[in-house]
Amino acid sequence: MVRRGVGKAFFAWLLAHGERADRRIYGARKRDLLGGLAGIVVEIGAGAGPNARYLAAGTRWIAVEPNVHFHRRLRQSAEAAGLDLEIVPGVAERLPLADASVDAVVSTLVLCSVDRVPAALAEVRRVLKPGGRFVFIEHVAAREGTGLRWLQRALRGPWGVIADGCRPDRETLAAIRGAGFSRVEAERFRLRAGLVAPHVMGVAVR
Ligand SMILES: C[S@@+](CC[C@H](N)C(=O)[O-])C[C@H]1O[C@@H](n2cnc3c(N)ncnc32)[C@H](O)[C@@H]1O
Repeated sequence: MVRRGVGKAFFAWLLAHGERADRRIYGARKRDLLGGLAGIVVEIGAGAGPNARYLAAGTRWIAVEPNVHFHRRLRQSAEAAGLDLEIVPGVAERLPLADASVDAVVSTLVLCSVDRVPAALAEVRRVLKPGGRFVFIEHVAAREGTGLRWLQRALRGPWGVIADGCRPDRETLAAIRGAGFSRVEAERFRLRAGLVAPHVMGVAVR
């Protein structure tokens, strides 16, 4: 299920040029979450590969990315970080991987965009080995009853058009907590990022 076209190419170009900002905003948190991962690591919605630099050299990195315009950048990121890359040109809702076959799954700013979050999380859980870790950083819905939550709902349509299908008002942490992991540890944080200011980061263990 690959995706291509002018809009997708533009989004890929935009994100590839945002790597420095990504490092500034999320770098310390990504070092904490991704630094200890080893073995076979799947990343859903890997984009241009800004997370490659946080993985240990030699890691097998299976990058699931439906937008083909990211693939060249993914190869460059993997090479720079010394990772053993496999690109899967598909979606998180259907991972072509065996049950209990990977050590970790990574998702950063992706669950806002996938079409079917419960299906994607079920796949994440299925492919993880027992004790395997799903690590995530996602922007999420603001608290119910706040002005920001109202705005997130009101602007969901146009925001989705300009931000490649991103939904700003997703209850992603609740979805992760409800996905059948044995343990979920998460913390909320906030960025100066307007509509997508509220974030969560954490680890869910299979
Ligand atoms: C906002 S970008 C984040 C990219 C990268 N993870 C990062 O942190 O920069 C969202 C990514 O999710 C991908 N994506 C969208 N729907 C997806 C799906 N159903 N399965 C896997 N990836 C998906 C998009 O192509 C895009 O690369």
